[in-house]
Amino acid sequence: MIRKTRSQDALLLSVALVAGFFALIAAFSPANAGPKQDAVIAKLAAEAGVASFSAKNGEAFFQGTHTGGKPETTSCTTCHTKNPRAMGKTRVGKPIEPMAVSANPTRFIDPEKLAKWFRRNCNSVVGRECTTTEKGEILTYLSSI
Ligand code: HEC
Repeated sequence: MIRKTRSQDALLLSVALVAGFFALIAAFSPANAGPKQDAVIAKLAAEAGVASFSAKNGEAFFQGTHTGGKPETTSCTTCHTKNPRAMGKTRVGKPIEPMAVSANPTRFIDPEKLAKWFRRNCNSVVGRECTTTEKGEILTYLSSI
């Protein structure tokens, strides 16, 4: 007969809690994102004090035309193109890998890279840093298509 000790019970309980936590994250996360993108978005959501972000708002920001930034870069699509699943290119013609997580699963998982390019690109396009909510919405959009 197998007798469980108290510590085995505690171990089983913690395994169940951890599994439940990840199931919860998966349930609320955008369709195409992997666990790493989910964690990045969850962190932004915690910072913004919301449960999730609107992919529709993210799409409007990413696809839209803005003022306040440099006249030669009025949209994220200037470099990333209207189709985030396609390759983009810089102003000097250097190729940029697709932004959609479905086409490029390595997107948004390096926090330093993410912060650097958000800072640089938001300043170019809207003339300021993007807010936490804007970042969350953009990443939710790009993780859901
Ligand atoms: C002048 C060209 C240009 C414009 C305009 C531009 N980007 Fe980028 N973006 C780049 C380049 C170049 C990279 C770095 C190369 C790469 O990640 O493939 C990059 C990288 C990024 C990254 C980092 C991706 C990662 O994997 O961590 C994010 C996020 C991003 N851009 C968002 C935006 C948003 C949002 C806008 C509009 C506000 C925008 N970009 C406008 C050129 C641009």
